[in-house]
Amino acid sequence: MALMFLSPDDPAELWRDELRARMPELEVRIWPEVGDPAEIELALVWRPPPGELARYPNLKAILSLGAGIEGLIADPTLPEVPVARMVDPSLTSTMAEYVLLAVLRHHRGFDRFERAQRERRWEFSLPPQPGDRQVGIMGLGELGAAAARLLLAHRFPVAGWSRTPKAIDGVTSYAGHSELHAFLHRAEILVCLLPLTAETRSILDAETLNGLPHGAMLINVARGAHLVEDDLLAALDSGHLAGATLDVFKDEPLPPDNPLWQHPKVLITPHVASYSVPAIAAAGVVDNIRRAQAGQPLNHQVDRQRGY
Ligand SMILES: NC(=O)c1ccc[n+]([C@@H]2O[C@H](COP(=O)([O-])OP(=O)(O)OC[C@H]3O[C@@H](n4cnc5c(N)ncnc54)[C@H](OP(=O)(O)O)[C@@H]3O)[C@@H](O)[C@H]2O)c1
Repeated sequence: MALMFLSPDDPAELWRDELRARMPELEVRIWPEVGDPAEIELALVWRPPPGELARYPNLKAILSLGAGIEGLIADPTLPEVPVARMVDPSLTSTMAEYVLLAVLRHHRGFDRFERAQRERRWEFSLPPQPGDRQVGIMGLGELGAAAARLLLAHRFPVAGWSRTPKAIDGVTSYAGHSELHAFLHRAEILVCLLPLTAETRSILDAETLNGLPHGAMLINVARGAHLVEDDLLAALDSGHLAGATLDVFKDEPLPPDNPLWQHPKVLITPHVASYSVPAIAAAGVVDNIRRAQAGQPLNHQVDRQRGY
């Protein structure tokens, strides 16, 4: 069975070696050196060029190297085969770690101290307790739930908002549009970990941001298109929001003339919140390859209708 590996961002040879170590019979062909397209039965991909996957007539499954698959399923030529998104312990733990770091940075006022240092200002204030800061996570899936648990372990009160109610020990669950307002109302630090779908595009707009308590902070680690950047800038400039940590952007790399770069209340990271380590993630991929071979449903199979 031949697998085609295609990603502009991932270490192809490392992935090939980790897959082969677990499945020596697997032939891994690194794009664009794919040979006869008819021999390719599996595709392990991140951001393939639109139309590319339609070139493989015997494809059995598409395995995404990323958790977000909105770009993949937006391709109208995508073959009608099962698609699985990436779920792996390294992706999950690095995301939870990033969220904890960003929450702590806002919570302990390091964002304010960084600004004060630039102005040589000694901005003394007593640190608040984690118990005094309510964190709200939009999206309580694989990544949101892990971030919630890590924050709970650091004594932050955590609530989550999802499509369907969740039972995670210690996490207050809000679900559906009717409970969004109540969820936002208590979120002093809002973390977005939603998938990008027709329903969630631009969800971080003026209405949502205005629903947060005065002085709230935003952490967007999901997708840039969740956020209406002008609405965020207005909320920061009015003082309603105290800060933002942004890892993802509508246009990546973020263009040099984007006003977010210069904003004193914004921290920008270049889409690095989490990543899959091939040595850790390969086991789950191989499991899904075996499932595809056996004609079984894939783990973490995407519901194309739902969009995630
Ligand atoms: N910045 C980065 O480096 C990075 C890395 C990896 C992933 N991501 C982003 O993180 C996203 C989440 O990944 P994941 O693996 O945690 O996804 P997931 O397991 O599919 O979880 C998605 C969560 O969002 C909820 N949700 C979906 N649509 C909703 C809606 N309309 N209203 C309310 N809740 C909704 C789901 O609710 P239900 O459970 O009720 O369906 C679920 O709790 C990815 O899609 C990707 O865009 C970013």
